[in-house]
Amino acid sequence: MSKRSFPLSEVYRLLEPGPVIMISTARKGRANVMTMTWQTMIDFEPPLVGLIVSNRNHTFDILKATKQCVINIPTAKIAKQAIGCGNTTGRKIDKFEKFRLTRVPASLVAAPLIAECYANLECRVVDARLAEKYNFFVVKVVKAWIDPAEKSPRTLHHHGKGVFTIDGKRIRMASKMP
Ligand SMILES: Cc1cc2nc3c(=O)[nH]c(=O)nc-3n(C[C@H](O)[C@H](O)[C@H](O)COP(=O)(O)O)c2cc1C
Repeated sequence: MSKRSFPLSEVYRLLEPGPVIMISTARKGRANVMTMTWQTMIDFEPPLVGLIVSNRNHTFDILKATKQCVINIPTAKIAKQAIGCGNTTGRKIDKFEKFRLTRVPASLVAAPLIAECYANLECRVVDARLAEKYNFFVVKVVKAWIDPAEKSPRTLHHHGKGVFTIDGKRIRMASKMP
């Protein structure tokens, strides 16, 4: 076998699921947004999603207190803003202002949708029992929005250490998955 041993500390770089997503939250009329990639689908319908939000992030406190968020899915068109929202904390700045992102009121949660993202998923936290131990929140998508004009969204995918790929060619295979 010609493979080499791979450092355990870098395993995340192989499994990072992507796409890059932007979590918006709001508390007392102040909205925030953070970028993340450690998310996973948990169930089809209602759609349940697992989010790892570090307790060092401002978003952790807001999510825990309000139990609401929006998962916004950006494309490469707003890559700079998306990464910027992952390199700054909303504790002191308004990232919507700084990165010129447009807030749109959501229908069922207080957190705003980000207009520049091609899809927006309004979510409620349904299980935070593992938040203290693993920073893990289970959220239920209660309303989903999609831009019909975006036919093949070129999403961003994170490989760690500043490396990203942009979604490209689509292929069809005989998969039994829904
Ligand atoms: C590409 C990328 C992926 C990230 N993934 C995560 C993640 O999965 N979970 C997390 O807690 N933080 C993640 N971060 C870091 C947060 O976005 C960052 O700590 C941010 O400053 C938090 O903002 P806040 O303090 O306003 O909540 C990621 C950042 C980048 C740039």
